[in-house]
Amino acid sequence: MNSYQLILTETKDRVGLITLNRPKSYNALNQQILTELMDALAHFDKQKDIGSMLITGNQKSFAAGADISSMVDSSPEEMRKSPFIPTFGLIRDIKKPILAAVSGYCLGGGLELAMSCDLITASETASFGQPEINLGIIPGAGGTQRLTRAVGKSLAMEMILNNRLLSAEEALSFGLINHVYPLDEYLERSIELAQQISRRAPLAIQTAKSAINAAFEGNLSEGLEKERDLFYDLFATEDQQEGMKAFLEKRPAVWSGR
Ligand code: HXC
Repeated sequence: MNSYQLILTETKDRVGLITLNRPKSYNALNQQILTELMDALAHFDKQKDIGSMLITGNQKSFAAGADISSMVDSSPEEMRKSPFIPTFGLIRDIKKPILAAVSGYCLGGGLELAMSCDLITASETASFGQPEINLGIIPGAGGTQRLTRAVGKSLAMEMILNNRLLSAEEALSFGLINHVYPLDEYLERSIELAQQISRRAPLAIQTAKSAINAAFEGNLSEGLEKERDLFYDLFATEDQQEGMKAFLEKRPAVWSGR
């Protein structure tokens, strides 16, 4: 494994643990930390004795967003040419499951990073938000898309348009995250969850991840088209005939499964 300056890596019994380590700036994400993170993920993804990866920060902050100081003077052209958002996108190439264990601030690009992972666990002190509107920008690494799919349109609108922050319990109740643990246990319990997953059938795990992502990423138009095709196909079945006739004849249907 390469040597890193802004992340720490270690192995915890089949789990590749990556700790974001820029505590003075609340783990603000700059190019270097993202590059190191993606390099470590790619490394663990290739290791046979690793079944899953876990990304975490510290108790105060998972990540407080993209590093504002590195963007403040950028022009649109510079932002377009920057490798920053494409580096974010490299996480989609990782085949093994990735968990984000969040404590404290999980804001802006930090939330976009967590939502790019496959499961999210949190300490009871975690808070989740997309505060970009306060900076006169919008989320740029998937926040408008993934948050909307995760929590639905109305709540995503309120979070992105009006900087509504979610507590860990709220994030759990809205389906954004998987578990909330006490602060002094969240890391250990998140590692245990990652270890459970890491011991399961590796090919099936990777296939399941890919299939779920296909469901998550498919667009509504394609989904509606698929649904319509399947709906029409059912009109070729005996059960459709039986079900509708039984209704009209006011009797229970007898299903043949054909
Ligand atoms: C750069 C940051 C930072 C950030 C915190 N810091 N967040 N530096 N970029 N995103 C730095 C502060 O400048 C400060 O450095 C130190 O971390 C501690 O922060 P304070 O503000 O002093 O702490 P506190 O009062 O406790 O407030 C914590 C906070 C606040 C609520 C998290 O720092 C904050 O609002 N941060 C910005 C959050 C944000 O807007 N995120 C979205 C970024 S844009 P010094 O040197 O003064 O001690 C984004 C777009 C992504 O993510 C687009 C696609 C990739």
